[in-house]
This record gives sequence, structure tokens and C-alpha cells, in this order.
Amino acid sequence: MNKLTCIVLAGGLGKRMCSKTPKVLHNLIDAPIIYHVINTVKRIKPSQLIIVVGKHSQEIKDALKEFNDIKYAYQNIARGTADALLKATPFIDKENNTVVVLNGDTPLISHETLDKLIKLHNKNKDDISVLTFTSNNPSSYGRIKRDENGDVISIIEENDATEEEKTIKEVNSGIYAFESSSLELLKSIKINKRKKEYYLTDIIDIARKRGLNISAYCIGSEEELMGINTKQELEEAKKYLRNKLINNLMNKGVNFIDKDSVYISTKTSIGKETTIYPNVYIEGNTRIGNNCKIFPNVRIIDSIVGDGVEIKDSSVIEKSIIRDNAKIGPFAHLRPESIIGQNSKIGNFVEVKKSKIGKGTKAAHLTYIGDAKIGRHVNIGAGTITCNYDGYRKNITTISDNVFVGSDSQLIAPIKIGKGAYIGAGSTITKNVPPYSLALSRVKQTNIKGWVLRRNKTVKTNKK
Ligand code: UD1
Ligand code: CA
Repeated sequence: MNKLTCIVLAGGLGKRMCSKTPKVLHNLIDAPIIYHVINTVKRIKPSQLIIVVGKHSQEIKDALKEFNDIKYAYQNIARGTADALLKATPFIDKENNTVVVLNGDTPLISHETLDKLIKLHNKNKDDISVLTFTSNNPSSYGRIKRDENGDVISIIEENDATEEEKTIKEVNSGIYAFESSSLELLKSIKINKRKKEYYLTDIIDIARKRGLNISAYCIGSEEELMGINTKQELEEAKKYLRNKLINNLMNKGVNFIDKDSVYISTKTSIGKETTIYPNVYIEGNTRIGNNCKIFPNVRIIDSIVGDGVEIKDSSVIEKSIIRDNAKIGPFAHLRPESIIGQNSKIGNFVEVKKSKIGKGTKAAHLTYIGDAKIGRHVNIGAGTITCNYDGYRKNITTISDNVFVGSDSQLIAPIKIGKGAYIGAGSTITKNVPPYSLALSRVKQTNIKGWVLRRNKTVKTNKK
């Protein structure tokens, strides 16, 4: 088998975006455009991956830092796609024969289509293969010109096309497979006088005249192969990708009440019979189990949600774990590193931060739990606050199994509440509480008989 090099061209200026952000770094759902390209390219397992970068090289490298084994080739002046590819050629490993070239602005390409292109390229012993598609609106693409036998003879860019050529609907995707020997021809490409750029597409005409074996394979859809040059095209790509992600989830058994109002990251997985209500945002690396209900306006980021979980309206879940059958919200906020146990309840206006909550524990209303370790079957009354911050450090609150914390209590950390203890409502707890004890720290109540009547009398006398 031929060894494979992939080269991604990302040295252009992306002027049509009218933005300071480099084109390939604009966000598509949950990652920069070029990130999607690299992610897909990695799936065909090239033995070598080279990215051609230009003016914005550092920003692009930063956006792709999680991928290792990428070589960067530099094109200091954006002089066209042929010039960009030429800059990468010195880096190609000698023993690698097949070179797949992709545009950095074509993020929806699937690895299946790339595989198909490579298979056809090898099977037909092509020197150059071009991946093409049929476009309803071909004006931003190079047109594929074929002879009477249907063989590709050249690619004509819009600016250089005659009126007749402009009617051709088969277009160049900017994705090619080359036998590395054919890349020699890059040096023969002349500058395009109109655009003052070296066009990679000109290699087809040159190769044909030299008798090389060239094929154009119309094997992908426009949606998959669209290039993003403008913000409007970026919007179209987003819509397509969002639909694809949601359709995939529906095919796996997920229910959506209003799929068009939901945003889901490419890394999200959701289990069977889970229902997603309108206006839900699921971001980052999130896993949701089976039979959950995610109610309207919920936002979940980088979290793991078990089976049978209900997350009620307007709750925010960040980098947390929610175990099976727990109930969260409405209006709850789980901040990073919270672990909510099985069958637990985190209710209205409850904030949890960096805390572990045991199985069957309830904090149903208006509570702050921060830096706490809470055992099983604990009741946290309304208005309870773990006072974790002393102005310098964050301190730990430990609450053992079966504790009852009465409403409106403050637990001044660091503090430990022993197993089965009972905290009287309205207490400020500053000392550890032994197991099975009652802790009370409120002022004893006094009732002053007839006080109101006497007061009213005084007020009336003063008025006269
Ligand atoms: C290119 C093709 C066109 C094809 C279309 C598919 C050429 C001349 N035209 O047009 O036939 O239908 O893609 O989407 O190749 N780049 C560089 N250095 C440069 C110029 C561009 O690295 O000097 C990179 C860009 O960053 C981009 C890619 O090459 O990722 C394509 O460049 P772009 O300017 O978008 O080409 P198109 O006009 O879309
Ligand atoms: Ca483009």
C-alpha cells in the first residue's frame, strides 16, 4: 500500500470574511473551521500531516495544539494555492507516494468520502484525482471542464470562465489526490495575470498535456464539500452540521421537542429515549444517558449525566457529574467539579461548587454548597450556606450520612458534622458536631406579653 501524506492549505488571507480573525479560525459549532478538517483527516490515518500556514501561523498552531505530529510549512506571502502546496513539498517523506491535498476552509468533508477518493485514485492508477461535486450555485468554485469522452481536461476559475463555461455545474472541491511524482508540475504553473496568484487548478491542464493519468470523481454532496469563504457560507455550514448532529442523535433514539432551537456540540453523546426540550445548549465533551429529561433553557458543558436524570428549566451544569435518577433545578447551578449522587435532588436556586453529594441527599431550595463532602441521605434545609471562604482560603465542609441541616443555617468551614446529627434551623455552626447530636446556636426566644398594646398606646399619646 502507498504511504499517505495529507496536506491542508491554510495560508490564505480569507479577505471575504471581512474580519480580523483568520478565516479558518472562525467557529463552526464548537471548534474552528480548520479543527474540523484536521479531525477528519486524522481519521484516514495519514503517516504524515502538513499544514501550510501564512500570516496567522501562530494563531492556527495554537488552535490545533491538541493534535500532535503536525508539520507546519510556511507561505509568507499568499501567492495562491499552487504556491502554498509548493511550500509543503520539501517536507513530504520520500517513501510516501500518495499526497492528499485539502483546503483548510472545507470543514464538512467526511472521512468516508476521503477514503473513497483514495481508493478510486489507487484503483485507477491515477497520477492526479480531483474530488468534485455538483453545485446549484457554482459561482464561487472552479468549473470542471470535460471532453466529449467525459474525461477531465481542465479546471476553470470563475474569473477566467466564458459565459458557456459558467453554466457548468460540476465544480472543484479543492480536494485532490496526487502521486508525489506529479507534484513536480507545480513548478510549471504560471502566475494568473488577473489575480496575480498561482492557481493549483492549472496543474490539471498541464498534466493532461504531459499525458498523465487524471480523473475527476463526482462523489460528494455540495453540503459536505462546500468551501467557506464568507460569513453567510459559515452560517449555512453551521446549519448543515447542526442538522446532521441532531439527525444522528434522533436515529439513535433521542427525542427533540423542537430540534431547530437546540445547539449540540460535535462531541456530545445522548442515550435512548432521552428528551431534549427547546433552547437547550449542550457544549464540549458531554455524555448524557438514557431516559433523561433536559427541560427548556438548560446549558450543559463538559459534563457526564447518568440515566433517568431530570434537569429542570434554566439550569447550568459545568464540568460536573450527575449520577442516575438525580433531579436538578429549576434554576440550579452546578459549577465545576461537582458530583451529584444517585437519586439526589438539587432544587430551585441551589448552587453547588466543587462538592460531592451522596446518594439520596436533598438540597431542595435556595442553598450554596461549596467545597463540601456530603454523605448519603442528608437533608439540607432551605437557605443553608456552607461558608467556605475566610477571605484567604477555601475551606472544606464535611457532612456525614443521615444528617439533618435545618433551614437558614450557616456552616462555617472548616467544619465536620458527624453521622446522623441534627442542626437546628437558623443556626450558625462554628464547631464540629459529634454524631447523633443536636447543634443549636440561635439566641433563645423571649416572648414579652402585651408589648404591642403598650407600644400602640405610647405612639397615640405622642401624636396628640
Ligand atoms: C479554490 C479553488 C477552486 C475550488 C475551491 C473549492 C484554486 C485556484 N481554486 O478556490 O477551484 O472550487 O477552492 O472550495 O485553487 N490558500 C493558501 N495560500 C494562498 C491562497 C489560498 O494556503 O496563497 C489556502 C486558503 O487558506 C484556503 C485554500 O487555500 O484554505 C483555498 O483558498 P481560497 O482562496 O478559499 O480558494 P477558492 O477561491 O475558494
Ligand atoms: Ca475557498
